[in-house]
Amino acid sequence: MAQKLIASALHYKQNPHADALLGKGKRIGCIFLNPSLRTRASTQIAALNLGMEPIVMNMDKEGWALEMRSGAVMNTNTVEHIKDAAAVLGTYFDVLAIRAFPSLTQKEEDVTDFVLHQFIRYAGIPVVSLESATRHPLQSLADMITIQEHALKKPKVVLTWAPHIKAIPHAVANSFAEWALGCGHDLTIAHPEGYALDAAFTQGATITHNQAEALEGADFVYVKNWSSFNDYGKILGSYPDWMLREKHLAQAPQAKIMHCLPVRRNVELSDELLDGPRARVQQQAENRIYAAQAVLAEILREIG
Ligand code: CP
Repeated sequence: MAQKLIASALHYKQNPHADALLGKGKRIGCIFLNPSLRTRASTQIAALNLGMEPIVMNMDKEGWALEMRSGAVMNTNTVEHIKDAAAVLGTYFDVLAIRAFPSLTQKEEDVTDFVLHQFIRYAGIPVVSLESATRHPLQSLADMITIQEHALKKPKVVLTWAPHIKAIPHAVANSFAEWALGCGHDLTIAHPEGYALDAAFTQGATITHNQAEALEGADFVYVKNWSSFNDYGKILGSYPDWMLREKHLAQAPQAKIMHCLPVRRNVELSDELLDGPRARVQQQAENRIYAAQAVLAEILREIG
C-alpha cells in the first residue's frame, strides 16, 4: 500500500488537478484539537485539488469542550459528549480528519489512541488521522515520498533524537520508523539513554546511543525530539550536544537533513543546516499536499 500511495502522490505532484472531479459533492471535516500550520493547509489544498469541499473546525478553541468517557456524569467542565458530537459530524461530512495529540500523562489512553478511536467509533464515516497520540501517517507518507524522490537504491536513513525545551509526543518518530522500515530502508535510530521509542514501532531498526557512529555514511538524517516513553512524557536530560550541526556530518558528506517542522532553530537543528544545501524540510512540507491527496483519493474511490 505504501508504494501505491507514494506512486499516486508523485503522480498528483506532477498534475495536481488530474482528478479534479473525483470528490465533487463530497465534504471533508478537518477537526483540530491541537494547533497546526502544514497539516491544516495541505489537507485543505489536497481536498480542493480533488474537488472536495473542506471545512475546518478548531475544536480546541471554537467547539464545545468534549467529554470522552462513557457513562460520565457531565457536571463539570465538559459540555458535549463525543458520542453526540462525532455522530453529528458524521451526518455533515463524507470524510472526517482528526488531529488529537496525546496527553503525555495518561499512557494507557495515549498508546491506544483513545481520542481518535472515539471519533472513529461514533462518526460512522471514514476517519483520517491528522496526527494522533501514536502516529502521524500523512507526515510519514510525505517523508517517504521525499526519500523516494532522491532515487537511491538502499539509502541509509538515520532518525536522531534532538534537544527541545518541552515534552514532545512520540507520534512523528514512531510513524517515521514504522514507515521507513515498512518501505525497506536501512534505518538506524540514535537517542540518549532513557529515550527508547515504543518497540512496537522500531522492530528491525539498529538502535544506538552513539549519535556520531549512527551518522556515518547516512543518506538521510531525520531530526526529531521526543520525550521519554518508558518514563512517560518526561524530559530526562537536555543533551545540547545532540543538536545537529554541520560538524556532526563530517562522515556523512551526502546526508540530506529532514524535519517535519515546526522546528526550534538552534535548539533542535542549527541555522547552518536548515538554511544550507542539505536541508529537505521545504520539500517534505510541499509533499504533505500530495500525501494527503493520495490518501483522500483512495478513500473517495472506496466510498464512491
Ligand atoms: N509537520 C506538521 O504536522 O506540521 P503542523 O503541526 O504545522 O501541521
